[in-house]
Amino acid sequence: MEFKAIVDTKARSACGCAVIGVHENGDLGSAARLIDAQIGGIIGRLIASGDFAGKVGDTLLLPHPAGAAAERVLLTGLGPQASFGRKPYRKAVQSSAQAILKTGAKDATVYLAQHDVPGMDGHFRARAIAEIFSAAAYRIPDLKSGAKPKPGKLAAVNVAAENARALKSAASGLEIGAAVGSGSALARDLANLPPNVCTPTYLGERAMQLDKDWPRIKTKVLDEEAIRALKMGAFLAVTQGSAQPPRFIVSEYRGGKKSGAPICLIGKGITFDSGGISLKDPPGMDEMKFDMGGAAAVLGALRAAAELALPINVIAIVPTCENMPGGKAVKPADIVTSMSGQTVEILNTDAEGRLILCDAITYSRRFKPAAVIDVATLTGACIIALGNQVSGMMSTDDGLAGEIAAAGSRADDRVWRLPVGEDYADALKSNFADFANVGGREGGACTAATFLSKFTKDLDWAHLDVAGTAWLGGSHKGSTGRPVPLLVEFLVQRARRR
Ligand code: BES
Ligand code: MN
Ligand code: ZN
Repeated sequence: MEFKAIVDTKARSACGCAVIGVHENGDLGSAARLIDAQIGGIIGRLIASGDFAGKVGDTLLLPHPAGAAAERVLLTGLGPQASFGRKPYRKAVQSSAQAILKTGAKDATVYLAQHDVPGMDGHFRARAIAEIFSAAAYRIPDLKSGAKPKPGKLAAVNVAAENARALKSAASGLEIGAAVGSGSALARDLANLPPNVCTPTYLGERAMQLDKDWPRIKTKVLDEEAIRALKMGAFLAVTQGSAQPPRFIVSEYRGGKKSGAPICLIGKGITFDSGGISLKDPPGMDEMKFDMGGAAAVLGALRAAAELALPINVIAIVPTCENMPGGKAVKPADIVTSMSGQTVEILNTDAEGRLILCDAITYSRRFKPAAVIDVATLTGACIIALGNQVSGMMSTDDGLAGEIAAAGSRADDRVWRLPVGEDYADALKSNFADFANVGGREGGACTAATFLSKFTKDLDWAHLDVAGTAWLGGSHKGSTGRPVPLLVEFLVQRARRR
């Protein structure tokens, strides 16, 4: 889908569909007023007769309205003026996208960004349109036999601005929103694929594809022998029960100065988490195909950085393998030596994410990174704490934590900071090794992060636990693409800060 900002003060753009906003009390935006006049006051009459209430989420399609430049006009409810804000705005954009995608319109002019939205400037109003329209057009790469439903026809979306200044901020918003859209789509595709397709080998191939598609991305994929040579004993312990060979993916985007310290984004890439010998219960085990959601998100964010040609260096690091039981699998009580030299007593083989991440964190040191952010579907405890709405964020650096929290809020991909460190270290004590890989049930998200913090000394580090936010269960089962919007906003801000 192509996005473009245009100046349109007369609401007279010829297109497949004009999208205009109507508040619940019948207040029309300026574009809606102009179009209403062009088509003989139909909109006013529809409101007066109670046929369109303007509730958030309401849409009403007017096909071939005589007098309009557009082939269709889509009325979109914005809810009460008094409580208008980010949330109703995004919901209205979302419903309009869904409604247009059901029509035959090939292009659309969206006038919604002309409305004042408290807490959202023109840049972000346009950005939301690109992001939300891209997401609405996304289709799961399903393996259903039979005829595929026809994809939506909508190929071009113009966002109308009132003047040259508004045009500029809308254009920059659309550029970032579109990159977030394609980065999220990549992440969603990877996470939605079944685990017999999306194996560690496959993830490595997709990362190699990024290298082919983007001149500034260079990927290398390490195999088991190379991983062994690096002495990644914790990572190797997790993969040893699986018939699928592991991969260690390093994808570098070099957009900044050669000497510029990179941002390392580390993604948990467990392509299936059975729990290993500490086997999970059958109900819901299928959902553990999403356990590479962190890996998918960092690759999506890297793609977005390349598409935006951000003037910084970003490195996506993905340790990827399966966590399986079997005669060769790691056992509770096994002790392994991590790449850092620290030894770990593996008391629960289902706490595998931290084991592959700790070696990836140690590996990242060779880049002398400006910041290291790991992204992982790490703990069920984080879902209990924060639900599916907000990701958990732990950091030993207040500055970095603040940056990430702010990026999450601006990108509507929020995080909440949870504690990490000293207070939780006792839970990980072991009589036989430097520490254990699990604490008790209580504070599980925090003890997991505290385990990671044992490998992050002197690094500017943050951890995102996206177990609740990277995918949804139930009838909406599937990947959300989170936290790609947050990561891209973080990178955009870092690129400005230089
Ligand atoms: N991948 C899971 C975490 C998870 C659970 C993600 C549910 C999404 C939904 C992780 O590897 C795991 O199994 N964590 C254990 C840790 C425990 C053994 C300390 C958990 O959360 O139960
Ligand atoms: Mn697990
Ligand atoms: Zn896991």
